[in-house]
Amino acid sequence: MPRWYPVALSADLRPGANIVAGFAEGQELALWRSADGAAQAWDNRCPHRSVRFTLGRVVEDRLSCAYHGWQYAAGNGQCVSIPAHPAMQAPRNVCAKVFGAVDAAGMLWVNLLSQDASAAPPSLADAVPAGWHFCRTLTLRAGAKDVRDALAQHGLAADTAAGAFRGVLEGVQSVALVLDAQPQLTFVHLWTEASPGSDAMKTLHTAARNLRGAIETQG
Ligand code: FES
Repeated sequence: MPRWYPVALSADLRPGANIVAGFAEGQELALWRSADGAAQAWDNRCPHRSVRFTLGRVVEDRLSCAYHGWQYAAGNGQCVSIPAHPAMQAPRNVCAKVFGAVDAAGMLWVNLLSQDASAAPPSLADAVPAGWHFCRTLTLRAGAKDVRDALAQHGLAADTAAGAFRGVLEGVQSVALVLDAQPQLTFVHLWTEASPGSDAMKTLHTAARNLRGAIETQG
């Protein structure tokens, strides 16, 4: 089964507005939404002169590169406009590299091996129980395998179908979603049944910091 990586909070991407930088397995990503809300995950390099797409801007259903302003279409990444030469046909062979992207359980998930968002397994929707709240994203200077091992040691059980770790941290029901960002950089998105601002949420924040310390010390 191709792997889907939880690269960003869905709520952080506004339709037709911002571009968010992301990583999965060392692949640098430009994450954005077209005006109709469809999630986009692209290689963060313009195919013209390799300038980062995250420096550009979203124009309706296109991403416009910051350097020469070439515009690329949501969905297939095809170059569709070169504003400096409006009479010129955009070259058909110039395309942004596009990855599969889908929203599920409050996260944007990316598949590096496919452009097909419809190939996402339905189990992603179960990664986080409905009504739970986002706590924080931990940035860990450690490999993803070490992080997964440490989560298991702390009593969180792996749910491989959903790509999640579930269990209790310092008495608080939690779900950890692990993102293999780079060889020695791992992100853990922590969700919980605790309400924002509650004592349980504060406890979980402290537990998360302690967890990060324990994992990085082990490494
Ligand atoms: S580098 Fe992107 S349009 Fe030229």
